[in-house]
Amino acid sequence: MKNIIMFIVIALMAAGIAFYFTHKSFVLGRVGMSFTNKPLAAEKTDSVGNVPKGGKRILVAYFSWGGNTRKLAQDIHKQVGGDIVEIRPVKPYPEGYKETVKVAKEEYAKELLPAIEVAKLDMADYDTIILGYPIWYYREPLVISQFLKQHDLNGKTILPFATSGGSTIEASIPYLEKYAPKAKVGEPLLANDKTLVEPWLKRNKAL
Ligand SMILES: Cc1cc2nc3c(=O)[nH]c(=O)nc-3n(C[C@H](O)[C@H](O)[C@H](O)COP(=O)(O)O)c2cc1C
Repeated sequence: MKNIIMFIVIALMAAGIAFYFTHKSFVLGRVGMSFTNKPLAAEKTDSVGNVPKGGKRILVAYFSWGGNTRKLAQDIHKQVGGDIVEIRPVKPYPEGYKETVKVAKEEYAKELLPAIEVAKLDMADYDTIILGYPIWYYREPLVISQFLKQHDLNGKTILPFATSGGSTIEASIPYLEKYAPKAKVGEPLLANDKTLVEPWLKRNKAL
């Protein structure tokens, strides 16, 4: 009997260790997203190249400092297919909230668009850019403005979504239009309530 119990305990431990190593990024990602508000390691482009369900060629592009918008962007990408890319500042924002607020405030005061790191993209591959960001100072973070400024979005549709501490997304829209004057900015979504996402994707023919 003792031997059987020992065997079961060892088997369970082995299964646990195997799960950790085969799902390491899943396990760590979940822990990071649930319990910290610190910047997570950025991913590179995950170019899955599958055909999106709505027939549009979609790029999900996002910036996230604390992980909320990243989680949502990844969920959206799972639903719509296409590609996903993270937009990161070359000089990362500080880990602390107060420090980040201070740095951001200085950038906004001078409309200083930070240098960004983003995988090389051929915009000819996409019809729709689903653009995700946290609301910072009632608008889009300036890494997003920089991304729009640096890419030729002529004829593309931008579908913006945001997470926030309560502010709406509306005040960011004129800035998106300013930095991507040749793109069409579609229906924006404040996505703090996740149940709004799927109907929004469907309404906008991304799903
Ligand atoms: C620098 C900074 C400025 C922010 N400004 C606002 C704001 O104006 N209105 C608001 O509702 N939330 C604001 N927030 C909160 C974030 O929008 C919110 O926590 C968001 O979900 C964070 O997304 P993330 O985890 O993807 O970074 C701010 C957060 C930071 C770090």
